[in-house]
Amino acid sequence: MKRIAVLTSGGDAPGMNAAIRAVVRSGLNQGWEVYGIKQGFQGSILGQMLLMGARDVGGIIQQGGTILGSARCPEFRTVEGRNQALRTLNQHEIEALVVIGGNGSQTGSYELHKMGFPVVGIASTIDNDLYGSEITIGVDTALNIALEAIDRLKVTASSHERAFLIEVMGRSCGYLALMAGIAGGAEAIVIPEAEMPPDRVADEIQAAYQRGKAHGIVVVAEGAHYNAEKLAQYFGEHEEQLGFDLRVTKLGHVQRGGAPLAFDRVLATRLGAGAVDALARGEYGVLVGLNTNQVTTTPLEEVVGRHKVLNPELIELAAILAK
Ligand code: F6P
Repeated sequence: MKRIAVLTSGGDAPGMNAAIRAVVRSGLNQGWEVYGIKQGFQGSILGQMLLMGARDVGGIIQQGGTILGSARCPEFRTVEGRNQALRTLNQHEIEALVVIGGNGSQTGSYELHKMGFPVVGIASTIDNDLYGSEITIGVDTALNIALEAIDRLKVTASSHERAFLIEVMGRSCGYLALMAGIAGGAEAIVIPEAEMPPDRVADEIQAAYQRGKAHGIVVVAEGAHYNAEKLAQYFGEHEEQLGFDLRVTKLGHVQRGGAPLAFDRVLATRLGAGAVDALARGEYGVLVGLNTNQVTTTPLEEVVGRHKVLNPELIELAAILAK
């Protein structure tokens, strides 16, 4: 192996830069040239890549986002797009590619792998829905940002005896909402894995007031069927009979933009180095992740199209402790 490339794809996640740094410096340590591809798979189609040295990745470990830029690339979902990417990578004599990203990105990795190009994926998404890694890059930082917001909202909720709907990210997975709800002491948690209709959410809030609480905190995953918008609409329509004052806060992309916390920096560093190790062993078509605190590889074939399942015991525990 002489020349590899690295790209970040899909939604950015705090810690991506630490992973880029680890790939570049571990690759250099192998005696390889490492190219950074700009704007995800889009850059692999257009040939937007630059040779990276150790100093190019200096001072980025503490930065959120990704210095390479990221994109969701519809063109790469087409055979023509992928063929063009393959031609471009071959023209630049790139021998292997490291893809830092989540579900959609690793589907792209798997497609390239099936075309015979050596690819290794690194598990990175704040949603933590990627099969093959117990925890993914960015989750811990995003969770802590959500938690800080919940703590703050609880203070003002208590002052006014209000209820709050707090919507956190998670396109189709309730991991962030469940963990933020448990850690933030929410009265109710609404997630796709355990849907709760509006009347039950209202019952939970009213029951909390009856138990003597001064607030009603409901954490809602954006991917839940009854998301914050639908719940707020119901509460608005039934305002008088419910008898509590409600506010809605959507945290949205605020959760993605933070500087990575220590856990994400170390995780990303380990996974970045692990990806280079996998390439050095000639192990391609795998996702590098963390399982039982070990850096592991899982064939992309097993990763793609699957979703990690939430621990049902934690869902139950959240409901018990909300009392
Ligand atoms: O997959 C990560 C994520 O932040 C999801 O939680 C969210 O639904 C989505 O990305 C938002 O995507 P975009 O940044 O393209 O709007």
